[in-house]
Amino acid sequence: MKLTDIKNISIIGAGTMGHGIALTYAWGGYQVALNDINETVLANAMGRIRDDLTTLVEGELISREAMGQILSRITTTTNLNQAVKGADFVTEAVSENIPIKRKIFADLDTFCPQHTILASNTSSLVLRDFTDQARRKDKLVITHWMNPPHLVPVVEVVRGEGTSDETTELACALLKKARKVPVTLKKEVPGFVINRVQYALLREVWSLWQRGVASAEDIDTIVRGSLGFRWAAIGPLETSDLGGLDVFSIVAENLFKDISDTQEPPKELKEMVKAGNLGLKSGQGFYKYSVGRGPDSKVRERDRKHMQLLKLWYS
Ligand SMILES: NC(=O)c1ccc[n+]([C@@H]2O[C@H](COP(=O)([O-])OP(=O)(O)OC[C@H]3O[C@@H](n4cnc5c(N)ncnc54)[C@H](O)[C@@H]3O)[C@@H](O)[C@H]2O)c1
Repeated sequence: MKLTDIKNISIIGAGTMGHGIALTYAWGGYQVALNDINETVLANAMGRIRDDLTTLVEGELISREAMGQILSRITTTTNLNQAVKGADFVTEAVSENIPIKRKIFADLDTFCPQHTILASNTSSLVLRDFTDQARRKDKLVITHWMNPPHLVPVVEVVRGEGTSDETTELACALLKKARKVPVTLKKEVPGFVINRVQYALLREVWSLWQRGVASAEDIDTIVRGSLGFRWAAIGPLETSDLGGLDVFSIVAENLFKDISDTQEPPKELKEMVKAGNLGLKSGQGFYKYSVGRGPDSKVRERDRKHMQLLKLWYS
């Protein structure tokens, strides 16, 4: 298969990631079939896609006319077979749950045409964890997007033991066509680069918060206004080159022994989850959010800032 043979893309799972991935491929000109377990989830997903597109129009990244065209390229269905029977490329974005993903990949292998590439958006698993029943090992690949998928440029591409060069190259070419920056890892490791780095940082951030070293607001301000600011321009390895490797090496020797190496999230965080305080989706997390109709103002504010960064990224 060539890139020009890819016309129809199916997205399985229409939650936080699935709806944004569907939007991105439709924005890239593809016909997209979006699948989830019930009509309510799909209707919500289309509402979120409309909201995201409205923000893109306001940010002048797309025109109002383009918004209509993008929407017209997305169809929804609760029937998996129907969603993928004409698919050239499928992205699975269902819950991070091995039995659910394993069943989806077994069904996709049965329902999809032979040429179809099956990509997973898993955050923390590797392909062999949930694709043992799929026979097309050469056509399986991980494409790991970040939230919000329609705005964050980089997508990690991770090969499994059987993934072919052709599949990897096609996945990368397709992501580029959809305005993404694919980066292929040399080795398959759980969490890939993004989540290993993110969770190493979160382990320390949660520990600082738990120990009361600074408030949640102050921790966020410090990280945003220092590391976040720097890393939006140059990465951490380049930053250490520019600061001097001798200095970074000595500081690491002094600090590594004091930095958290816990194997568990803090008990306070587990208690928040147990109490249903899940962040934006429940209205309460480290911060309070307004939960109601329409896009949360925090999400809009975040997306506005991301759009400014995106313009810099592509400048
Ligand atoms: N949220 C993030 O920041 C993020 C970032 C990168 C990767 N991921 C990964 O992306 C995947 C999806 O995450 P999310 O945050 O969008 O989760 P989510 O809970 O928002 O959405 C998951 C969706 O999958 C649907 N689903 C469950 N079983 C299904 C089935 N059998 N058939 C069809 N749909 C089904 C659910 O109804 C739900 O709408 C996970 O593997 C996650 O680890 C998440």
